[in-house]
Amino acid sequence: MSNILDTLKHISEEITNEADWGQPAQYIPELAEIDPAQLAISVCTADGKTHSTGQSDKPFSIQSVSKVFSLIAALGRTGDQLWTRVGCEPSGTSFDSIVLLESERGQPRNPFVNAGAIVTTDALLSGREPKMALAEILGLIRAMAEDDDIHINAEVAKSEQRTGERNKALAHYLASYGNLLNPPDLTLGTYFHQCAIEMTTVQLARAGRALAGLDGAPNILPALRARRLNALMMTCGHYDGSGDFAFKVGLPGKSGVGGGLLVIVPGRVSIAIWSPGLNKYGNSKAGTRAAARLSRSMGWSVF
Ligand code: DON
Repeated sequence: MSNILDTLKHISEEITNEADWGQPAQYIPELAEIDPAQLAISVCTADGKTHSTGQSDKPFSIQSVSKVFSLIAALGRTGDQLWTRVGCEPSGTSFDSIVLLESERGQPRNPFVNAGAIVTTDALLSGREPKMALAEILGLIRAMAEDDDIHINAEVAKSEQRTGERNKALAHYLASYGNLLNPPDLTLGTYFHQCAIEMTTVQLARAGRALAGLDGAPNILPALRARRLNALMMTCGHYDGSGDFAFKVGLPGKSGVGGGLLVIVPGRVSIAIWSPGLNKYGNSKAGTRAAARLSRSMGWSVF
């Protein structure tokens, strides 16, 4: 497997030389000032080993990558009933769009756009205190990564709570259609805190093993559920950039505005990439290029 490491080093050098990083998320003040010229990649293989380049032990804000974990937790709690409240179709809209909610009577297209993730978190909350739902998500992530050193950055959560007018609008709009069962502020508080979870690329790659169905992965996800999650990540994981990601990378993935990417190579490896500058869709700019080159060099596309 030593050629994985050589490939990672080569890609990292190329991307660094190109210096085409994009800009970090500007609408979350705590993230806006991060130096975009950073790249970390970790690949976790079936034997549980990780191969990494860059600052793979530096925690970053996972943001929307958390939506994969909250979805797993919510499905564990409510089962397939969740699909009566949120769809599983690509939206073709930006992650924070409200536009389809009116014609589709408050049912978000999928659990990865913000509206769908807010409904998913609401289902997970189901009348409990936010700290209970957050403990459930954190516990799940720690179990999937087999690492307890994973935490929420309260400053990042507060920063978004102060400025997240769009998400507040989405939550209240969902509530107006009866698709929020908890008070909007409680659901939003939970959602902002789940987005503020920090992980390193090593931890995130390890957490992806169950999704990749790797032999040594903790037994957390039934195979059918993992397959469906991968299908959703492939079709919806990058919002209106999902087709572009599938075209260039050919793998299921989930992005976050913190610049993180979780990319799954079913049956083979789990990949985590972090580079905080974003492209026009709000996904990691250099990270997406790195994923495309890695998939191509290793022959990992599912197509
Ligand atoms: O709700 C938000 O806007 C952020 N907490 C998360 C959005 C996000 O990560 C979109 N992904 N690229």
